[in-house]
Amino acid sequence: MSTYDFDTVIDRRGTGSLKWDHRPAGYNQVIPLSLADMDFPAPHEVTEALAQRVAHGIYGYTAMGDRDYEAILSWIKMRHQLTVPREWLLPTPGVIYAMRAAQHVLTRPGDQVVVMPPVHTPFFVTASRFGRQLITCPLHCDTEGTYTMDLNRLEACFAAGARLLMICSPQNPIGRVWTREELTQLAALCLRYQAYIISDEIHRDIMMPGSVFTSLDAIPGLAERTFAVFSPSKTFNMGGFHTATAVIPDPDIRAAVRQRLSDFGHSCGRPTLFSIVAQTAAYTHGGPWLDALIHYLDGNFNLMLDMIADTPLKAHKPDATYMFWVDCSALGLKTDQFSSLLLDKAGVQAELGHLYDSADYQTYKGPQTHMRLNAAMPRSLLSQAMEGIRRAVRAR
Ligand SMILES: Cc1ncc(COP(=O)(O)O)c(C=O)c1O
Repeated sequence: MSTYDFDTVIDRRGTGSLKWDHRPAGYNQVIPLSLADMDFPAPHEVTEALAQRVAHGIYGYTAMGDRDYEAILSWIKMRHQLTVPREWLLPTPGVIYAMRAAQHVLTRPGDQVVVMPPVHTPFFVTASRFGRQLITCPLHCDTEGTYTMDLNRLEACFAAGARLLMICSPQNPIGRVWTREELTQLAALCLRYQAYIISDEIHRDIMMPGSVFTSLDAIPGLAERTFAVFSPSKTFNMGGFHTATAVIPDPDIRAAVRQRLSDFGHSCGRPTLFSIVAQTAAYTHGGPWLDALIHYLDGNFNLMLDMIADTPLKAHKPDATYMFWVDCSALGLKTDQFSSLLLDKAGVQAELGHLYDSADYQTYKGPQTHMRLNAAMPRSLLSQAMEGIRRAVRAR
């Protein structure tokens, strides 16, 4: 199917890569299945647009123009059937920046902010910033390993006074896509309690075949109570550019978030020159590349499932994202012990699952049942890593 090359292994060492140049001390040779970026080059149209802009030679202050907004609006219409007025869009220097600015605007010191672990670790930090109180409402995991939101517990959180919820949709690290039915139930609860939702939709473009993404902005009555934020950084592997777009229908909230961002410098509300060029090229030309990427990742997940089939490890193919969430509880090891086994015997660096249960992992005392593996790398390398994991686990 693919005219795109995801197979070539490109050496990222020496590029300042957080994933490849900052491996644990003494483990410079391990394969990092860790940090959430991909070992694939961005679509060639992005590289060409950047090269052309670099060749211009003058890199003065730059702002997004009509073409750049149009690229975003057509992308979200084409990929997610979302039509929003341009003025609802707020460019930001990244998803976490945007979420923190929104948290600050939507709450007061002492307010409770709810997050649903296991979830991307910065959620915990974000929810408890600026004197706010972090409340956790863990996802429910059934015996088959399927996660659902615990709406009864969420209602109890709202009844106890929480008015802001932060969700990850699709959810990193578990790879679940929340269905329209689930989001509709969530919406009913939020509307009943007049709660507001910050929806981190950074992974929404990477949907596995058969999965359908629904933005909270598409749930009737909820757009006004939602701060959704998305970005090309996961989709096209350009996390180094730092850019994201928030969709904020309420003009007062939008103005307040814009003001909050600019409190830290006027460029916080103005993506950098090269991130604008890269984003516009990606959204304009990147659709076929993304389709091919998804097909390739689907094949990588199949490989991972095959490689753990005759081990005590358990996993599902995720609905979305390039994260593979592995239940290693049957090994009888704590995940930090398992992580050491992987480093020493498999030559692989994985992310400890309990990093997604708390920001305070130094003193963390809860269950340690999962690891997160990043599937976004050339298949030959992934195969080598998975073979190492299989060997190490079976030899125990
Ligand atoms: C769910 C989620 N949100 C946010 C981010 C980071 O976004 P940004 O770099 O734009 O702040 C990541 C990166 O891994 C992520 O997985």
